Amino acid sequence: MNISIIGSGYVGLVTGTCFAELGNKVICVDNDAAKIKRLKKASVPIYEPGLEDLIKKNIKSKRLFFSADLKSAVRKSEVIFITVGTPSKENGEADLTGIENVARSIAHNMNGYKLIVEKSTVPVETGAWVKRTIDMHNHKKYKFDVASSPEFLREGQAISDFMHPDRIVIGVESGKAKDILLNLYKPLKSAILVTDIKSAELIKHASNSFLAAKISFINAVSNLCEKVGADVAKVAEGMGLDRRINGMFLDAGIGYGGSCFPKDIDAFISISEKLGYDFSLLKEVKNINNAQKINFIEKIQDSLWIVKDKTIAILGLAFKPNTDDIRSAASIDIIRMLQDQGAKIKVYDPCAVNNAKAVLKKVKFCKDSYDAAKGSDCLVVVTEWSEFKELDLVRIKKLLKHPLIIDGRNIYEPIQMKKLGFKYVSIGRAKVV
Ligand code: UDX
Repeated sequence: MNISIIGSGYVGLVTGTCFAELGNKVICVDNDAAKIKRLKKASVPIYEPGLEDLIKKNIKSKRLFFSADLKSAVRKSEVIFITVGTPSKENGEADLTGIENVARSIAHNMNGYKLIVEKSTVPVETGAWVKRTIDMHNHKKYKFDVASSPEFLREGQAISDFMHPDRIVIGVESGKAKDILLNLYKPLKSAILVTDIKSAELIKHASNSFLAAKISFINAVSNLCEKVGADVAKVAEGMGLDRRINGMFLDAGIGYGGSCFPKDIDAFISISEKLGYDFSLLKEVKNINNAQKINFIEKIQDSLWIVKDKTIAILGLAFKPNTDDIRSAASIDIIRMLQDQGAKIKVYDPCAVNNAKAVLKKVKFCKDSYDAAKGSDCLVVVTEWSEFKELDLVRIKKLLKHPLIIDGRNIYEPIQMKKLGFKYVSIGRAKVV
């Protein structure tokens, strides 16, 4: 199939590249000409394992193209995916300006039947607005369909998530749109749920919100565990053995971050309010998530007493491992809160340093974990990168001024830390003092 992907961000690049890999001819479009120039040379502006190689491969086999020319891409394609950003406005509402612009541009450049598929995460009823917008600007009255096919990929494992999804959701209004999409997704051999457009839109927001609620739930439980000396990891394990609950997304920590959960929850609360429903459950999910960062700062304070002038080594900046993404990362808030109290910050992250340099001031970026630990008053784990789990802790202990580790991701075992002679504070588990 001839496909255009409008918006070459995370979702767009992965979607376009994977559709090309499945044998389609794909044009990835973006209005950032400099980005397109880089992408044509297979220089990928984001860190996503395996993506660069797959882009190179598909450029070479002439299935994947990059262009800043939306008009020509639309004219060459039968299926057009919209994957532009839907950032949060100040009030939490999703800003759909990008979607509207693209819908209008598609309408102006139609030269025959087009299937326009929204893949960006959008509030329910966006599909209806896209349809109305195209109708209004499609002066030659070419036939078209609008569909929704939300993407569930996770950063850091995006290609494998795209190629081996738990399910594919297709929201359609016509048999033709359904057949095209079923055909397109057929090689993925996944369960496919066909539904109406509004239900498909809601599935995406509801899924992300549900996962965030799971995280906030276990974080709330972790606070109780700390009060009575129970172990949240064991509680989560015990809960997760019930197949109705399952153990995934039950890792207590410093709360969820990233480009999706915080934004999507805000947007879901906002669209619910607009539609006359107060989704108070989600407001609490958000409150618990914010409180979890404050709780973590309090753990650091409790361990150091006076934070002012102490040197704190932070391990991890990315909002989760295997990505360089620091959007809504807990690390940024935590570092700023510590700096506000006068702490000196040293940080190390295997991937996200360049992105962090653009937003963090007065921070010493270190070449590795040992460099960060050297001469610091404590070590604070913020992101659970594998390499942090494999550190030579005996060496770390020698480098630190005091053997103190505050672990926001529970990557070490308290018993082991006690044996090594650390003071060790983690989430929802007894302190080692
Ligand atoms: C998420 C959804 O998982 C994905 O389906 C959707 O398409 C986009 O949003 P992503 O933001 O890439 O994906 O990351 P994810 O792996 O879901 O993690 C989100 C955040 O939750 C991270 O900050 C992570 O550290 C945190 N998290 C996750 C926990 O704190 N505990 C957990 O048990 C799981």
